Amino acid sequence: MSARIRKAIFPVGGLGTRFLPATKAMPKEMLPVVDKPLIQYAVEEAISAGIEHFIFVTGHGKTAIEDHFDTNPHLEILLKKEGKTDLLNFLKNCTLDSGKISYIRQSEPKGLGHAVWCARDLVAGEPFAVLLPDDLFHCKVPCLKQMVDEYPKTAGNLVAVEDVPQDQTSRYGILSIATDDGKLIRVNGMVEKPSIQDAPSCSAIVGRYILSPEIFSELDKQKTGAKGEIQLTDAMAATLDRVPFHGMRFQGKRFDCGNKIGFLMANIEYALDRADISEEFKKALKNLSF
Ligand code: UTP
Repeated sequence: MSARIRKAIFPVGGLGTRFLPATKAMPKEMLPVVDKPLIQYAVEEAISAGIEHFIFVTGHGKTAIEDHFDTNPHLEILLKKEGKTDLLNFLKNCTLDSGKISYIRQSEPKGLGHAVWCARDLVAGEPFAVLLPDDLFHCKVPCLKQMVDEYPKTAGNLVAVEDVPQDQTSRYGILSIATDDGKLIRVNGMVEKPSIQDAPSCSAIVGRYILSPEIFSELDKQKTGAKGEIQLTDAMAATLDRVPFHGMRFQGKRFDCGNKIGFLMANIEYALDRADISEEFKKALKNLSF
């Protein structure tokens, strides 16, 4: 029986350069889809997967994230006075209990692998989840919950997988497949951002992971890979000889909100899904001329 997944790392130390100038003074992870910041979608997904401790790897200019998950007494008093209970409840939903949230600083954005390594002492020897907040998953059963449910079958490392078009393999970590039952893939290798020619498949690792703490024995080496960054994919690949590795095709849709088109599409999809605004939004969309 594999261990329960209690802790999740949210790497939010990146610079978000693809969203400049919006991200000059505001964290990319605070960009709203409709009216909720990306990071809050990720935290809510983690809560529904049973996560109890939330570890944020932050960096320069990311304090808005800490404020977002803290109380705001002035705003609460005002909303109470005005009888705006709905809004008050929204505020309460984004407050995480003291002691359940930790922030650790990544002094320089040296890559995703480095960001995860920064949280090694907080994870303290147990399997843990990693959620990249700029990958937004629109799923009936939240993506991390699907993975946690599958994890007792796999143990080791388990990553969310999406089959991507062949000309997009150079944007992702791509799996080399040993066996594939349509949902679970047993992995025997992986390559970070391969060209079409070098890609072993079109099955890409997307932003949800459950990782064995063994990963830190590789990340400790601080080896750089693609783009001169410390890559999580490289560290996972290096533990293949001793840690079982699986990919899971999740049920649902993913929006890459780290890029402009993905972010805009997410806003449209989520707005159309919202009972309070969808009808008005549909009418407004029909009036657009292309
Ligand atoms: P990305 O590579 O998409 O984020 O990392 P980025 O570097 O901020 O974006 P661009 O390319 O400059 O626009 C995915 C996630 O990993 C985090 C990011 O904050 C994002 O949530 N990350 C990335 C870190 O925490 N540290 C890093 O060194 C790199």
